Amino acid sequence: MKMYDLIVKKRNGEELSTDEINYFIHGYTKGDIPDYQASALMMAIYFQKMNMRETVDLTKAMINSGDTLNLSKIQGIKVDKHSTGGVGDTTSLVLTPMVAALGIPVAKMSGRGLGHTGGTIDKLESFNGFSVEISEKQFINNVNNIKLAIMGQTADLVPADKKLYALRDVTGTVENLSLISSSIMSKKIASGADCIVLDVKVGDGAFMKNYEQAEKLASTMVDIGERLGRKTVAVISDMDQPLGFAVGNALEVKEAIHTLKGNGPKDLLELCLTIGSNMVFLAKKAESVEQAREMLLGTIEDGSAIKKLREFITAQGGDVNQLDNTDLLPRARYIVPVKSDRSGYISKIYAQNIGLAAMELGAGRATKGDKVDLAVGIVLNKKRGDSVNTGDILAYIHSNDEGNIDIAQKRILENYIISQEKASDIPLIYNIIRK
Ligand code: URA
Ligand code: CA
Repeated sequence: MKMYDLIVKKRNGEELSTDEINYFIHGYTKGDIPDYQASALMMAIYFQKMNMRETVDLTKAMINSGDTLNLSKIQGIKVDKHSTGGVGDTTSLVLTPMVAALGIPVAKMSGRGLGHTGGTIDKLESFNGFSVEISEKQFINNVNNIKLAIMGQTADLVPADKKLYALRDVTGTVENLSLISSSIMSKKIASGADCIVLDVKVGDGAFMKNYEQAEKLASTMVDIGERLGRKTVAVISDMDQPLGFAVGNALEVKEAIHTLKGNGPKDLLELCLTIGSNMVFLAKKAESVEQAREMLLGTIEDGSAIKKLREFITAQGGDVNQLDNTDLLPRARYIVPVKSDRSGYISKIYAQNIGLAAMELGAGRATKGDKVDLAVGIVLNKKRGDSVNTGDILAYIHSNDEGNIDIAQKRILENYIISQEKASDIPLIYNIIRK
């Protein structure tokens, strides 16, 4: 087999065989196939696309490029969730203790933030001493003992995706349905859960800017999951404004704690209940999604969810005094209000630019190696549909550097769109895709 022939075949719009896909993934992971040939193939796939059979084969080949996590030592049906990435998306921190509090094992691998989107691991490191670098053995023990563990993705899990994603990122070939879905699903399946609930974001702050694209991505990923033996459901949810109020690591941890104590933002809670009820139902702990939702609400009301978060933070070395008193979490030196210069209704908050503004304050990474400042970020005070008067506070900037406050202020004002008429409502949950 020759890589040249595969490139020409795909360039001409033909289908690649299972063997050819395996040949490419194997050879590229080993270093036998150079980046320039791999990028030519990625570009050919970008233009000519892949059918479902090729997409599933690609996912399988990527899973087989490295180790997979064996969770068979964990009792019960293991569930996992994955978000395609958003701004201020604190769901994992809220949702995983709620689901675990119902006795369902949650064994989760999470990532770090990049660009305008945040990552669960960075957020958790707001707790002094908290570590995601636990061994596989400890990971499994923790899930058996307390039903919840979160670790970073190990280096040998889907090595093909690490190389390919980095290559796609610099060759303009990220935005292809088959490439995105195989990248996400290979990692999810290799991490070993029996059931997967996907949160596919749609809107300005998401990968998928419109509903049609998001639905295609959701149904492709559900299809891949089911064909590879995992119960898979996708929730399509709004990312046209940040989720909740807080955008930034420790700020989001604080928001998650408030939510678990029953005082969280409505949209964040609603999304957690929607994703969570599907997780509970797939884990066969409820007769219906509606019943699962009531059970999840119960974990907030009876305090078992916040207690679960406490156990989880303790088990991974974190300081729970910061949970009991959130003032002990990392705090920024300057907290500056951003005031509206006009009155009207908030018709739009550009999520991606708010995410980028938080990143510039230090809450996120422009490139992979950057260090994040856990304390900083933006806390929204007004959201879409709210009315404002001149001088009302739209948001607060949390910064550790006096020098970057002016630019953040300008960015926030530019990205809050205020109109004279109240815009029509955008749903938080667009659809739920099941097989
Ligand atoms: N997230 C991933 O993990 N992979 C992609 O290709 C896109 C988003
Ligand atoms: Ca938030």
